[in-house]
Formats: sequence, C-alpha cells, structure tokens
Amino acid sequence: MLVHIPHLLSEEEVRHCRAVLEASPWMDGAATSGEQARKVKFNLQIPVESKEARDLGDIVLRALGRNPIFTSAAMPLRVLPPMFNRYDVGMKFGAHVDGAIRPAPGGARMRADVSSTLFLTSPDDYDGGELIIEDTFGTQRVKLPAGDMILYPTTSLHAVSEITRGSRWASFFWTQSMVKDEGRRKLLYDMDMAIMRLRRELSDDHPSVLPLTNIYHNLLRSWAEL
Ligand code: NI
Repeated sequence: MLVHIPHLLSEEEVRHCRAVLEASPWMDGAATSGEQARKVKFNLQIPVESKEARDLGDIVLRALGRNPIFTSAAMPLRVLPPMFNRYDVGMKFGAHVDGAIRPAPGGARMRADVSSTLFLTSPDDYDGGELIIEDTFGTQRVKLPAGDMILYPTTSLHAVSEITRGSRWASFFWTQSMVKDEGRRKLLYDMDMAIMRLRRELSDDHPSVLPLTNIYHNLLRSWAEL
C-alpha cells in the first residue's frame, strides 16, 4: 500500500528546512548503507548526529504527530530519527532493499516496517529523481510537491532515478509499526478511512458508526504488538 500524505509540512516549514540544509555539511550517502545498497547508492546526506539533522528531524516528527493519515496508515510504535539527503545531477540510487532491522538511538534496535520519503524540492526544479517502488500492483513512480510525503512498505524493492537537471532534496525515515503485517495494516487503514467518510457524509451519530468503530478497535487490539 502506497499512501500519499499531502502538505505534511507547511510552505514555511519547507522553506526553513531548505535554509538549514543549505548551510549543512553534506557527506557521501553510502556511509550509512549496508553492503548491497552501497554499491548502487550515489547521493549526499547530512550526518544523522549533526545538530541540523536533529533540529530538522524534530520538525518532521512534530508534523507526523499532528497528522491523522500518518497515524492511521503507519500505526507507529517507533519512528527512527528522520534523515536528509540530496541528489545532484548524475546522482541516483539503484534498486535496493532497506534493511529489516536498524539500530535505534540509545543502542536499541528496531524493525523497519514502513518507509517514508518527504519531498523538500518542487518537482519543477529538477528532472529525473523519481522514487520508483515495486508494488504488488506493479512499478509505481513517485514525484511529489515539496512538503508532501509518500509512505510505502519497507518490504518493497525501490530506487531513485538519475537526476538530469537541478537537485532533489528530501527527508526519509523508517517506522516500526504496531501492526507488523502489511495486509492487516491496509485493512485497518481502509476501514478507518471508510468510517471517517461515513461520519463526514452521513452523521457522527449514524447507528453504524459505533459498532464499526468497535470492530476497528477490536481488530487493532488483536493485531497490535507493543
Ligand atoms: Ni532505500
């Protein structure tokens, strides 16, 4: 399931992120990857432990906290600190997998279930740089407005196509979900969206709202792992 979250960041927040990133120390992105990904990864990142990454990461985490679509689609248990990357002309990231288990702050480890890419450059400002995701429905090519985010299952093979003009800046991070199974996560998300539509288009106190909400929570209760 791919979920597009429009306007995760406001225009003002995107401007602020870009201004901080302008002045950040960029390093070779291959440094943070496993062996398979390193061979096909050609981009730049700012160090995870830098002040810039932490401050901007907090802005992204706050935005996630106020976003009901992210909560519903990802069912987050833990979110790794957001990272920031850029692709200049000639840079790309070939087909790869993201590791299933990732080191988390404080020496813990977590399982990566949901991947997120938050676009920080307008699509008019670069050519190429599409996020290409192998979905069960086929290959999806994603390129979104600055401030918008895409969620996709970390189980998917994916790539970023080569930049032929401009520069593409983004934030990316992984989430461990309370609901490990992607199919169950999708069922819960679809049901939540349908209940919200029912409440919006009929009424909050329609007689079906309460029993459906009860079913939703009972499914979540049997599937969630904390
Ligand atoms: Ni990746």
